[in-house]
Amino acid sequence: MNISFSLLSHSETHQAICIIGNKIPASLKITTKESKALKEKPSKWRKIQSVSDGDRYLTRIPEPEKKLNRSEYFRKMGVELYGYLKNCDLDSCFILDSKPEDAIALAEGLVLKDYRFEKYKKEPQEYTLKSIAFDKSVLSKSDLSKLSSKLQAVYLSRDLVNEPANILTAVELANRIKVAGKKFGFSVDVFGKKKIQTLRMGGLLAVNQGSTKEPTFSILDYQPKTNKAVKTVVFVGKGIVYDTGGLSLKPTANSMDIMKCDMGGAAAVIGAICAAAASKLPLRIIGLIPATDNQPGPDAYQPGDVITMFDGTTVEVMNTDAEGRLAMADALAFAKKYNPDLAFDVATLTGSSMRALGRKSAAAMGTASQKVMDQLKKAGMNSYERVVEFPLWDEYAEDLHSEIADTKNLGPTPFADVIIAGKFLERFTDYPWIHIDIAGPAFLSSPNGYLPSGATGFGVNLLYHFLKDLKL
Ligand code: BES
Ligand code: MN
Ligand code: ZN
Repeated sequence: MNISFSLLSHSETHQAICIIGNKIPASLKITTKESKALKEKPSKWRKIQSVSDGDRYLTRIPEPEKKLNRSEYFRKMGVELYGYLKNCDLDSCFILDSKPEDAIALAEGLVLKDYRFEKYKKEPQEYTLKSIAFDKSVLSKSDLSKLSSKLQAVYLSRDLVNEPANILTAVELANRIKVAGKKFGFSVDVFGKKKIQTLRMGGLLAVNQGSTKEPTFSILDYQPKTNKAVKTVVFVGKGIVYDTGGLSLKPTANSMDIMKCDMGGAAAVIGAICAAAASKLPLRIIGLIPATDNQPGPDAYQPGDVITMFDGTTVEVMNTDAEGRLAMADALAFAKKYNPDLAFDVATLTGSSMRALGRKSAAAMGTASQKVMDQLKKAGMNSYERVVEFPLWDEYAEDLHSEIADTKNLGPTPFADVIIAGKFLERFTDYPWIHIDIAGPAFLSSPNGYLPSGATGFGVNLLYHFLKDLKL
């Protein structure tokens, strides 16, 4: 992220100024022409009001209608403002404001809209926003540094998902986690293939069998500097760096061709831990990232195989494309050793969740208390990375019955796989837990507002907001 943040006092002048709300501060020394233009009702095709006299550019963002989600409204207005700044070729803007949350949301819209992944292009886009100035009387330095690290975490998460799988192997993913740990302040331990074999992580190893590349298992560990007892929260993120489906090969168009996104859960977990560590939240936070690609090589695991998982459970593999739950299950069983007060797993797990909810929200289900689930839903509304609660009723596990092993990895019908996959994972937990399936919202084929095409960074804001306000 190349946009810098600064603080200015209300009376300082700036070439481009954005006013929020219906009052125009007297200190702006506004001309009658400007005042008239700014007070006009926004036109239908422009939601913000803007006026320029050649030297100075003024915009006003009206108060939202009551029924709208306030922070999302300002994020969207950030996108409008971005368009205006870009049209006028302005690379900086001063946000005058009365409420800190509004300025923050507006800046989020601006920054998230400015994201691009163009390291492989000879000719990058010309326009980019360089700086945003905030009102000194509204925000503090520490507000700005928190906002900046949160947005950097979203950028990192997007970059990891957008990075193609020929570059971002499981080993490379682990390397990037190490770099992030140094930058944001958490420690990282990476297990390679030998250690994973010694630990007998049979799920992760089975998925890796068809690959010529090594798997990794990364442990992110953030400990706050305090003597007080703190709660422990574990996050498991699906790190399938590429999912061909294995021998149960996927078709290419609109399916395998986007499967570099299959480590979107890992990217969300990594980003959230970066943001949490940078803001020094008073929680111990562990991230577990089982990573490999899923390939149909000569040694690939096969439909019909029975594998033994990290915790000793045997699994009859019905379809090698239901690989995520195998790698995740080992990590969830491994998580027991931390005695978590709460654990999450985040995964681009099922096409079924996408069919149910599309790209606009994630499916969540689990064994944590309703109070915790409600906090997650609330964090979803605030960050506008929304989650919908799905049931985890026991009857859904009936489909997983195997004649020859403890469980199958897949039911016999394509119905409700989003829930059945959740039931499969539940077996490997013995602590309060929530599973979040982000297969829909993690990756877009065309841009939408402040979400670019490709990786969205979905989950970083959701989990960060959840952790920040967490009451256990
Ligand atoms: N990685 C996919 C799920 C997915 C689908 C992620 C679309 C992102 C976008 C997962 O590993 C998978 O292949 N699921 C299959 C399982 C099926 C074979 C039981 C699915 O949901 O179709
Ligand atoms: Mn798959
Ligand atoms: Zn997958």
